[in-house]
Amino acid sequence: MARIQFPKGFLWGVATASYQIEGAVAEDGRGESIWDRFSHTPGKTVNGDTGDVACDHYHRYREDVAHMARLGVRSYRFSIAWPRIFPTGRGTPNQKGLDFYRRLLDALHEAGIRPFATLYHWDLPQALQDRGGWANRDTARWFADYAAYVMEKLNGQVDGWITHNEPWVVAYIGHVTGEHAPGLKDIRTGFVVAHNLLLSHGLAVQAFRQLAVKGEIGITLNIQLVHPATERDEDVAAARRLDGVFNRWYLDPLFRGEYPQDIWELLAAEEVAPPVREGDMQLIGQPIDFLGINYYSRTLAAASPEARETLGVRMLSGPGPKTDMGWEIYPPGIYEVLTGIHQTYKPKKLYITENGAAFRDRLQERRSGESREGRPAERSGQEYVVHDQDRIDYLGRHFYQAGRAIQAGVPLAGYFVWSLLDNFEWAFGYTKRFGIIYVDYSTQQRIWKDSAYFYQQIVAENAVDERFAE
Ligand code: FCB
Repeated sequence: MARIQFPKGFLWGVATASYQIEGAVAEDGRGESIWDRFSHTPGKTVNGDTGDVACDHYHRYREDVAHMARLGVRSYRFSIAWPRIFPTGRGTPNQKGLDFYRRLLDALHEAGIRPFATLYHWDLPQALQDRGGWANRDTARWFADYAAYVMEKLNGQVDGWITHNEPWVVAYIGHVTGEHAPGLKDIRTGFVVAHNLLLSHGLAVQAFRQLAVKGEIGITLNIQLVHPATERDEDVAAARRLDGVFNRWYLDPLFRGEYPQDIWELLAAEEVAPPVREGDMQLIGQPIDFLGINYYSRTLAAASPEARETLGVRMLSGPGPKTDMGWEIYPPGIYEVLTGIHQTYKPKKLYITENGAAFRDRLQERRSGESREGRPAERSGQEYVVHDQDRIDYLGRHFYQAGRAIQAGVPLAGYFVWSLLDNFEWAFGYTKRFGIIYVDYSTQQRIWKDSAYFYQQIVAENAVDERFAE
C-alpha cells in the first residue's frame, strides 16, 4: 500500500447546513421552519436545544469563509433555508433572505472557493407543514417554484446545485420513527413523502434545464452500507431488503426510472406502496450531472419477522470501534459503496458530499511552548487546542479508501468533510461535535482542532499518506 495522490483539481471541501449553523431564526423576515417548531417542542431534542443561535453563522459568515480560505479548501457545500427565501413557503419572496446568500457567495468567490448549494436540508417552511408538508403532493410543486426562483436569482454564482439532502432520512426519521421534524410516526406516510421528495427533485432538475442554469445539478443520498449479520440465508435476504428500502428505493428511480420490484411487492402486500401517477417516474429518472453520497458507517441486517416497519429486518451495529454517535467506524465501506454504485448505476460523476465523525472533543489550554511539529507559527496565537487524533484517523482512513476507489475507476470528483464547524446535530442538539473546528458556544469562538490542521495539509498536498491504508 502506497501513498495516494488525488487527481489534479480534486474538489476538497467542507459541508454545513442552514439550520445547523445559521441561527438568526427571526431575522430579516425569515419564516418559521419545521425544525424551529420541532426543537421548541419539549422533549424532542437533547437538553431542549434549538437552532435559534447555533453557530451564529448568519452574522459570522465572513469569519467562517476566512477559516475555509485558511484551510485551503476549494469548495464549500452549504444549504439555503427555504423559509428565508419564502417565509411561508410560497408567494412573495423575501429579498433580505436572498441577500444573505448573495453576501455569502460574494465572500466565497473572493476567497476562490466554489459553492455547492443544497436546496433542501430539512428546514421546510412550517406554513407548508400546516398544509400537509411533504405528505402533500403540492409541496413538490412549491419546492420546484422555490428552487427555480433561487436558481434563476443566483445563476452563475453556484457551481453545484443539490436538490435534496438524504431523502431517506426525511421520509423515515421524519415521518416513520418521528425522531426528526415534523415528528410523524406512520409508515405509509413515510413512503408517500419519499415519493413526493423524489418528484420534487425531478421538477427542480427540469426547471434547472429549462432555465439553462449554469453549473451542474444532482442529489445527495445517504447510502447506508448493509451487510448481513451472519451468512444465514434469512440474514442475507434481510440485508437485501434493507438495502432495498435504504438505498435502492432512491437509486433505482433516479437512475432507472422505476422502483425496485422486490420492495414494491413487499410494500404493496402491506398496503403501504405510494400512489404513483403517470409520468412521475420519467420525471424522477431524468438525467442528473452527479450523485452526492453521504457515507458515515455500515449497518448489519438480521432477519426479524416482528420488525414490520423495516420489512422484517433488525438493524445491528457492526463489531468495530464506534464514534460518539455509536456508529461503527468502517472505512472500507466507502470504497465498497463508491465502486458498487459506479458499477450498478454509472452516475456521470460522484461526490462524497458528507463524511466525518463525532467524538468527545476536549478543549484544552495550550501549554506554553506546545506546538505541532513542523508548524509552530500557525499555532501561536491560539490559546486552546483540541487533540482529536481519533477524527484524524477516521478522516485519513476514509480519504484513503476513496482514493482507492478513484484508482479503481470511480469518477469521484470531490469530497466534502462534515463538518466545518461543530453545530446543531438535530435531535442530539449541541451534544455531538462533528466539526474540524471547535465552537465554544458560550463565546462563539472558533478553535481549530488538530484535524483542521491535518485537513489543511491533505488539501495542500492533494494526497493521503500510506499510514492510513489499514
Ligand atoms: C447527516 C446530515 C447532516 C449531519 C450528519 C451528521 O445525516 O445530512 O446534516 O447531521 O448526518
